[in-house]
Amino acid sequence: MKYDTILVLDFGGQYCHLIGRRVRENGVYSEIVPHDIKIEEIKALDEKINLKGIILSGGPASVFDENAPKPNTYIFDLGVPVLGLCYGHQLIAQIFGGTVKPAKRREYGYAHVTIDKPIGVLKNLGRKERVWMSHSDTVFSLPSEFEVLARTQSCPVAAFKHKTKPIYGLQWHPEVVHTVNGMRMIRNFIFEVCGCTANWKMEDVIERMVEEVRMEVDAGKAIIALSGGIDSSVATAVAAKAVGDRLTAVFVDHGFMRENEPEFVENTFRKFKLNLIIVKAQERFLERLKGVADPEKKRKIIGEEFIHVFEEVAERAGAEYLIQGTIYPDRIESGFRKFSDKIKTHHNVAGLPTKMKFKKIVEPLRDLYKDEVRKAAQMLGLPKEIVFRQPFPGPGLAVRIIGEVTKEKVEIVRKADKIVREEIDKTGFKDKLWQYFAVLTDTKATGVKGDARAYGYVVAVRVVESREAMTASFARIPYKILEKISTRITNEIPEVVRVVYDVTHKPPATIEWE
Ligand code: XMP
Repeated sequence: MKYDTILVLDFGGQYCHLIGRRVRENGVYSEIVPHDIKIEEIKALDEKINLKGIILSGGPASVFDENAPKPNTYIFDLGVPVLGLCYGHQLIAQIFGGTVKPAKRREYGYAHVTIDKPIGVLKNLGRKERVWMSHSDTVFSLPSEFEVLARTQSCPVAAFKHKTKPIYGLQWHPEVVHTVNGMRMIRNFIFEVCGCTANWKMEDVIERMVEEVRMEVDAGKAIIALSGGIDSSVATAVAAKAVGDRLTAVFVDHGFMRENEPEFVENTFRKFKLNLIIVKAQERFLERLKGVADPEKKRKIIGEEFIHVFEEVAERAGAEYLIQGTIYPDRIESGFRKFSDKIKTHHNVAGLPTKMKFKKIVEPLRDLYKDEVRKAAQMLGLPKEIVFRQPFPGPGLAVRIIGEVTKEKVEIVRKADKIVREEIDKTGFKDKLWQYFAVLTDTKATGVKGDARAYGYVVAVRVVESREAMTASFARIPYKILEKISTRITNEIPEVVRVVYDVTHKPPATIEWE
């Protein structure tokens, strides 16, 4: 069966991915495609989807920029409705000969629009609506084949419709939650204007991903790096369904794992029909980290060593295909990173370098968001410890030990981490938290244990709330819980004499200490 589908043309807007997301939340399939997609490419999509509408996203450009991204105008002749949002709205106005002017200043934030004609995309909306605007160019007038549906004080054409064709523009962003009735506007477009049927379900997505892996890998062999995180776990479960024992999943135990982690991953995935290889590489990682205190060097060494181990296994397995659990935000983030400062090199075991020789890299989760991956994980029968687990850095506990990593220090931080997790897991706080863990600092301090002077390590406890890890706040957890954690750490780990709580937000700090 083909899904009714809305294509979102990506003009680079920061909310572009949210548009697709909102459409899918309504049970209608949506795909994000490049803004200049060619007609042949759209036609090729016909085989798998039932195109019902097109949305032009917002974007950072001005329609007056020399290299302003523009759509191919055949999209207006495909016979499906088109909706332009923000930059998309201005583009449609410009293409059809309206007057668009560069604004003197950017309008950013809430705005109240007056809706004069509540039809089509604006059906059943009130006279006044609170919406979210973020634009610089403004549409001032349109040719006679268009009608104006809404306006604001500074924006005389805040929403429009072509009089005879289903072409709409909205100056604001219905996809963000700040637009109070934004979801109704999206629903109006997909159901009222485009006439979509909500026939897209998570079960189908899993089926589609399995089918894709099956087709790509065909009769070949594939390999996947399984970190135990949710993304690589879901990708492994999907790939196992698709190619069964022609899949080799590799879990590299670099020795910086949390307590019981390798056993947990092994037990979880043993029940799938696949070759699971647990590589015990603790010694070689420790050896390579000897004398290394610089955090970036540590990351680099761990990343490189990981690839060596992985390459060795891949070669032995004779796999021509690499499966990865890359999800949609990973793809946007790597785009963003091009323009942002390097703060840390994240070595994500799901992101192996492409210099490795594979016939193809298959990324079945590439269009999904984290919560969609969670849903898929539940449906694939993965245990809740995987579905709801907190993020864990690829280099593991090695970046939670400040300075040189030694066997002794790994043991200390692993025990402390276990205590922090056990104590917080008992409380109702857990669900509000992004991450909670212990850090072994390189400071030693004086204490007293029994009646004697003790001299030992200082452990820091880090507990943060966050939505996507770009920013984070330290969690205001009750002293009672902190006290319990501190008492247990100093009682149960003889080498530790002091426990401190990290009360720094991100920024200026980062979540991890290294
Ligand atoms: P920071 O410390 O940069 O962390 O605020 C943001 C998020 O990323 C995780 N993190 C890593 N993940 N490899 C990873 O796969 C890394 O090297 C790494 N460093 C940090 C961190 O746990 C947090 O969720």
